[in-house]
Amino acid sequence: MKKVSVIGAGNVGATCADVLARKNFLDEVVLVDIKEGLAEGKALDIWETASISHFNTRVTGSTNDYSKTEGSEVVVITSGLPRKPGMSRDDLISTNAKIVKSVTDNVVAASPDAKIIIVSNPLDVMTYAAHIASGKNANEVFGQAGVLDTARYRSFLASELDVSPLDIQALLMGGHGDTMVPLPRYTTVSGIPVTQLVAKEKLDSIIERTKKGGGEIVNLLGTSAWYAPGTSAAQMVESVVLNQKHIFPCCVRLDGQWGEKDVYLGAPVKLGRNGVEEIIEIDLNDEELELLKISSGHVKDVMKVFDDMKLF
Ligand code: NAI
Ligand code: 2OP
Repeated sequence: MKKVSVIGAGNVGATCADVLARKNFLDEVVLVDIKEGLAEGKALDIWETASISHFNTRVTGSTNDYSKTEGSEVVVITSGLPRKPGMSRDDLISTNAKIVKSVTDNVVAASPDAKIIIVSNPLDVMTYAAHIASGKNANEVFGQAGVLDTARYRSFLASELDVSPLDIQALLMGGHGDTMVPLPRYTTVSGIPVTQLVAKEKLDSIIERTKKGGGEIVNLLGTSAWYAPGTSAAQMVESVVLNQKHIFPCCVRLDGQWGEKDVYLGAPVKLGRNGVEEIIEIDLNDEELELLKISSGHVKDVMKVFDDMKLF
């Protein structure tokens, strides 16, 4: 019985459940939300597409009843508020950390062996909070950011080069935000280094656009993205449940790699049945290391804000 639960049936959570169902490799996807009827309604709507979209995965919903999630192999946590006008970053950290903590407690009680994928923002710090709350090993709690950020980068490059986005291999590290570290040295188009195909100035502008990719959507929609984030989380779930061992950039706790310790940062990892099976310590040059250090410093500052709140 392959079962996955998605907590938070809002924009990102419902999209993730929908994409998981369409992939048709699970027996059941359970959506959970605190808002009465929301998860049940979204789950029913998705399930009603099964005969048209050709999938067998049962999609069910529950209002805060975690017994329905029992035995999940993976749980994706998307519950949390987006930042609202008048809300400081600290308010957001405190509100979302409390939500992530209570959800994680419920998730672990129902599915003690589940791997946990965090999506709630601020991503790197919410992954840290969930890891503490879960009491699990660091390889079992990790965050979604890099799959989304590289997907954006790949789509921009594909548009620029007029090639299939599938041909673009790319890597990106660091925190989920403006200090993320795209790595053109590790970007190829069917094996051809991207630097041979895109002029430096253009590549720099694509990298800048990638760093601000979340904000670009917020400016257009007035709220944050959901298709690409939900689909990115679903791809991580698939790699874990089917033990595909894809190498994806994920938010993980670093333990000395690149000189960084006890910080949650995006890094290339192998994702399989055991969650993060390996952090791949690629070679970085001085300039890349410096950018990673800046990004790490930024995430550490936010981790400290969370620590100082002594929420749990
Ligand atoms: P949304 O507002 O559409 O959905 C959030 C859902 O969480 C709501 O339905 C709400 O009722 C639910 N919720 C709140 N407290 C809960 C609790 N204690 N238990 C269960 N459910 C609870 O928001 P959206 O757009 O889906 O975004 C969700 C989170 O994901 C936000 O924090 C957002 O910033 C973040 N995000 C992260 C991305 C990433 O790449 N890591 C990308 C996009 C969004
Ligand atoms: C995004 O990158 C806001 O984290 C969200 O779209």
